[in-house]
Amino acid sequence: MSEKATLSVGGKEYELDVTVGSENEKCIDIQKLRAESGYITMDPGFGNTGSCYSDITYVDGANGILRYRGYPIEDIAEKASFVEICSLLIYGELPNAEILSKFRRALAEHAPLHTSLEKHFAGFPQGSPPMAILSAMLNLVSCFHPDVLEVYSEGHGFDRTAALLLSKVRTIAAYSYRMSIGRPLNQPNPNLDYSANFLHMMFSEPYREYEANPVIEKALSLFLILHADHEQNCSTSTVRAVASSRANLFSSIASGVCALWGPLHGGANVGVIKMLEDIKTSGRPIDHYLDMAKDKSNDYRLMGFGHRVYKNFDPRSRILRNKVDVVLKELNRKDPLLDIALELEEKTLKDDYFISRNLYPNVDFYSGILLRAIGIPLDMYTVMFAIGRMPGWIANWRELHDQRLRIARPRQVYTGATERSFIPLEER
Ligand code: ACO
Repeated sequence: MSEKATLSVGGKEYELDVTVGSENEKCIDIQKLRAESGYITMDPGFGNTGSCYSDITYVDGANGILRYRGYPIEDIAEKASFVEICSLLIYGELPNAEILSKFRRALAEHAPLHTSLEKHFAGFPQGSPPMAILSAMLNLVSCFHPDVLEVYSEGHGFDRTAALLLSKVRTIAAYSYRMSIGRPLNQPNPNLDYSANFLHMMFSEPYREYEANPVIEKALSLFLILHADHEQNCSTSTVRAVASSRANLFSSIASGVCALWGPLHGGANVGVIKMLEDIKTSGRPIDHYLDMAKDKSNDYRLMGFGHRVYKNFDPRSRILRNKVDVVLKELNRKDPLLDIALELEEKTLKDDYFISRNLYPNVDFYSGILLRAIGIPLDMYTVMFAIGRMPGWIANWRELHDQRLRIARPRQVYTGATERSFIPLEER
């Protein structure tokens, strides 16, 4: 017999179903509670609320475990390519050679932008935030491919639409950078793989083709893989909420880009570098920054620390930390920000404030140092996160449609004025 939970409230008992996930995650299903009892449950920030049953990504925050479709992130990080992971996340299984090569061909085919679309970049004022450009351009792409607006599930052009989005986002990101520095746009090269093609579009010049170093290329691919999905975080939940109104893939994902932009989410990778730069240039001791982060009279937080789910360590942070060493060694370079980051991490690990709140470095803490080493400019960091997160957003959009989930519509407890009579302007 399946387990039940009993809720006793207002002198009555209500029996609620208990569901269990494949990793033994337990859930009390309250869907019928309001209709039966008149009570809703309250959970601002949804810290303890499940919004879906999902087969895509598993996170065990207590033990620092992250798996895509069952595959541990440590395994994937070492052995997979980003394109393979896109296919795995979106379609559920690792692609065989034939599927992978078809997928790569589709990405190559969709990489160029419509020439009229290219002109739109010129309309953005100098210095426009790249995340604003990205979200605007994603909606704009759909105007040039109106068929994608009608795609809701597999078998109805979904494969083409997903490949188009994964490929165009890379070109849009590179072009927004080229425009921002006033350099000519580089057409995508179909012979290059995903990361190398991106680096080429970012850094090739008419007089000098960008020569990709395999170590850098692999580091970028790793960065994208580590950001590819992370179950029901703020931006993915946003994509799902928008998609639940049956909004098309492009508009749903453009909303995800906006949600990711915030400094408490994907914007933290920029925040980390600004914080480390500030520590370096101010000459103040690290303890000064720790004290500020602990002081409840201000909002200052250590960027790149803490996580809603990870209460032990974020496995992505460890992988990135190791990759930073590999890349800096390959380039025969040192980064003073890495030394500061290491000292900061070491101090927090011994500090009661951070220990008692389970605050450890998250994915953003070392990712910025890696992107710096690769040569990506600071204002593009969150865009890089968005490129990486594309397959996760697409997979979640598809799963929601396949499961035919209801429109997202939380309840509230109203705390405003009770009914009162309108007062005409002249009497106020
Ligand atoms: N520095 C200092 N204190 C912190 C930090 C931090 N980075 N993060 C959390 N805390 C403290 C809070 O002040 C709070 O203390 P209190 O219990 O005394 O009030 C406690 O830890 C719990 O914090 P919450 O804000 O309740 O945790 P929540 O799960 O809501 O937030 C978040 C998680 C947003 C990641 C938070 O830790 C944070 O702001 N970190 C800094 C920004 C950051 O790195 N974001 C990237 C997250 S990963 C990602 O999105 C890809």
